[in-house]
Amino acid sequence: MRPVELAPGLFWTGVLDPQLRVFDVIIRADSGTSYNSYLVRGERGCAVIEAVKAPFLPAFLDNLRELTTPERLLYVVVNHTEPDHSGALKALLAWAPGAQVVCSRNAVPFVQGILGPDAPEQGRIRMVGEADSLDLGGVTLRFIEAPFLHWPDSMFTWCPERKALFPCDFFGSHYCDDRLWDDLAGDFAAEQRSYFDHILRPFKEHARKALDKVEKLPLAMVCPSHGPVLRTSLPDLLARYRAWSLPPARGDKPSVVVAYASSYGNTARMAEEVAAGAREAGAEARVFDITAASPGELLDAIEGADALAVGSLTINGDAVKPAWDLLSSLATVKVKGKAAAAFGCYAWSGEAVKNLSERLRMLRFKIAGEGVRARLVPTAEDLAACRALGAALASSRAPA
Ligand code: FEO
Repeated sequence: MRPVELAPGLFWTGVLDPQLRVFDVIIRADSGTSYNSYLVRGERGCAVIEAVKAPFLPAFLDNLRELTTPERLLYVVVNHTEPDHSGALKALLAWAPGAQVVCSRNAVPFVQGILGPDAPEQGRIRMVGEADSLDLGGVTLRFIEAPFLHWPDSMFTWCPERKALFPCDFFGSHYCDDRLWDDLAGDFAAEQRSYFDHILRPFKEHARKALDKVEKLPLAMVCPSHGPVLRTSLPDLLARYRAWSLPPARGDKPSVVVAYASSYGNTARMAEEVAAGAREAGAEARVFDITAASPGELLDAIEGADALAVGSLTINGDAVKPAWDLLSSLATVKVKGKAAAAFGCYAWSGEAVKNLSERLRMLRFKIAGEGVRARLVPTAEDLAACRALGAALASSRAPA
C-alpha cells in the first residue's frame, strides 16, 4: 500500500500484513495486522517514526522513496524496539546514512543490541526525554516518557503542529484495513480490546500514568503502530482506555476464585466445597468451570480476587490442558502476593495438584498449603479438607 497523507506533511508509510493469523506466537490476529510507520516532513528535513517488521523492508523503502531522499531523512524515531517495529531499522539506517536513531534512555541498550556491538551505527543513537524536541523546520517532535507500554523502552512522540500523537503499541489493534482511518475502516472494537488485554493488561499502572499526560494534549489524531489511525471521538477513546486501565474493584470481604477442570464431576464437587469453605470463613467465592467460562471473564475475576484455587484431574501424569492454559494466560494478570492452592481427583498417580502448585509458586502466588487430592470419588474427609483449604484462602488479602 502506498503512502497516505494524514495531515500536511504527515504521512502513513507503513505496511499491511493481512495474512497474519498469530502474532508473537500466542496472540490470535484473525484480521491480520499492520506495521504502521509515519513520516513527518519539515523544511529542514524528515523524521520517520517507527520502522517495520524485517520482511516488509522493500515495500517500506518504496513508500519512503516516494516522499523523501536518504539525505533528507534526519531522524528515525524508535518509540519501542520490539522487532515488529525495529526489524527493518538497521537496513533503514543503511539507506539513510546521515539519520540519527532517536529513542528513550531505556531503549539505548536494546537499540545497541539490534545494531550489533561493532556496528558504526552505534554512534548515531540519540537519547531523548521529555525536555527534548526535534526541529524539522516548521514542525517539531516532542517526547513523552511512557515506560512499560509495554516494554521498559517505550515512549510516545508528540507533534504539536499537527496535534498528532504516536504512541506505538498503546492504542493499537491487530486489524488490517487499507482504508486506514478509524471512521472508514470496519469494526475493530473487539480487536482493540483484545490488544489491550493481551499486551497492556499487566501494565495498567503505567497506562494510567501515560493517560494522565495524554489527556492534557489537544489531540487531533492518534497514530498507533498497529491498526487504524484514530481521529474519531478521541475523548471517548481516552475514557475507554482509562476505564480499561483502572485497578480491579475491591470489596469489603476477601474474594476467592475457584477454577476447575473436571471429567466426571468429582473435581467439580471439590471445587464447590472449596468455595463453601471460603464462604463459611467470610469471603466472597466464585466458581468457574475453566472449559466453559469466557477467558476474559475468568481473567477479570482472578485479577480482582485475593486468592485462587485451581482444580484439575490428573490424566497421563499431569493436569489437563485447560488448567495449564489458564495458568499460562495469567502472565497478563498481576498475581504477585495473591494466595493460591491446587486440588483435584485422580485414579492412580495424581501429579496434577503438585504440578499446578509448582507453577502457581513460579507465578509468585503465595501458596496456601500443599493442596488437596482425592482418589476418584472424594470422601467426607477429602471434602472437609477442601473446605479447610477454602477457609485458608479466605484469610488472605492480596496487596492493594
Ligand atoms: Fe508492536 Fe510491542 O510491538
